[in-house]
Amino acid sequence: MSQQANSPLTVPLRFKGDKVVIITGASDGIGKAAVTHLVEMGAHVILACRSEDKAMKVMEEIRNKTANKDAMMQFIPLDLSDLESVRNFARKFLEKNLPIHALVCNAGVWEVERKKTKQQFENTYGINHLGHFLLVNLLLDKLKESAPSRIIILSSKIHSSGDAKELLSDPNYEKPSSYSGKQTYANSKLANLLFAYKLVRNLNEGSSIPQSGVSVIAMHPGVVNTQIFAGLLGSFSSIIGGLFFDTPEHASLSVVFHAVHPDQNGVTGFKYYEQWKEKKSIADSFNEKYQDDLWEMSVKHVGGLTL
Ligand SMILES: NC(=O)c1ccc[n+]([C@@H]2O[C@H](COP(=O)([O-])OP(=O)(O)OC[C@H]3O[C@@H](n4cnc5c(N)ncnc54)[C@H](OP(=O)(O)O)[C@@H]3O)[C@@H](O)[C@H]2O)c1
Repeated sequence: MSQQANSPLTVPLRFKGDKVVIITGASDGIGKAAVTHLVEMGAHVILACRSEDKAMKVMEEIRNKTANKDAMMQFIPLDLSDLESVRNFARKFLEKNLPIHALVCNAGVWEVERKKTKQQFENTYGINHLGHFLLVNLLLDKLKESAPSRIIILSSKIHSSGDAKELLSDPNYEKPSSYSGKQTYANSKLANLLFAYKLVRNLNEGSSIPQSGVSVIAMHPGVVNTQIFAGLLGSFSSIIGGLFFDTPEHASLSVVFHAVHPDQNGVTGFKYYEQWKEKKSIADSFNEKYQDDLWEMSVKHVGGLTL
């Protein structure tokens, strides 16, 4: 594994298949690169992807290049734009009777035009927030049972442009006459933080002392050269990205750090990192009324938190 000097992963981590990590959106970009590092370290990785074909190719590519001949990777289908698929993923995973040491909510979209999920939610809200909201809740008992465990939520620095009032009054972005992919994306990334912090409050059951052994870490992975900007920047995407952006290989090391590094054992409280550095997210993300309202609305939108 390329453990660059400007990351705290200077001491190689070694697991013996006993560290189980689920990564959503493991078929491309930061998620795919994170799987590669985790497999090198000997973790057991569950690739939660919408495309079986892409996931199989990623696993084959990693198997062909890894020094870990006992690489443990499993694909379970997950389409976050379909809440039934989220429930099916949870059922299939739970049938395996495996623990979860880290659940990495990584998959994400930045749309340039209005699109809807299977259940008719705006895609960015539906995939970036709602699908992950349901997934985490369905796996929460397993995460508690597997504690110490971690939930890593890929937010973004752009959450600072998120509009909490708009998110809560018009989550599907129906009122503005023209669609803004940037605004819906920023709103969804603020939703990620409101969700993460409410989860911390729930897990601690009102106490300042952690009650569950489940850590929740929200993070910005850097500005990274991936396909997420393809719709926005078109054919310039890879040229601009290659010149100015971080690589998925490097940026994903920060995701891996938060997911499995012992330095992050027992992390508690409202945690937001930009790569390896802890930062303060915007004031609105700490607003408990916004957190509660988003939670309540999300429960309704997913049709309850049961399988
Ligand atoms: N790149 C950046 O600069 C940047 C900055 C801040 C935050 N982030 C966040 O980092 C995360 C990863 O982004 P990335 O840059 O690696 O993007 P990416 O290269 O576009 O990869 C996105 C991943 O999400 C998956 N995905 C999309 N829709 C899905 C759905 N409905 N169900 C399941 N999986 C789905 C994609 O699957 P397919 O392979 O099938 O398309 C792909 O594996 C996102 O949450 C993003 O918001 C990225």
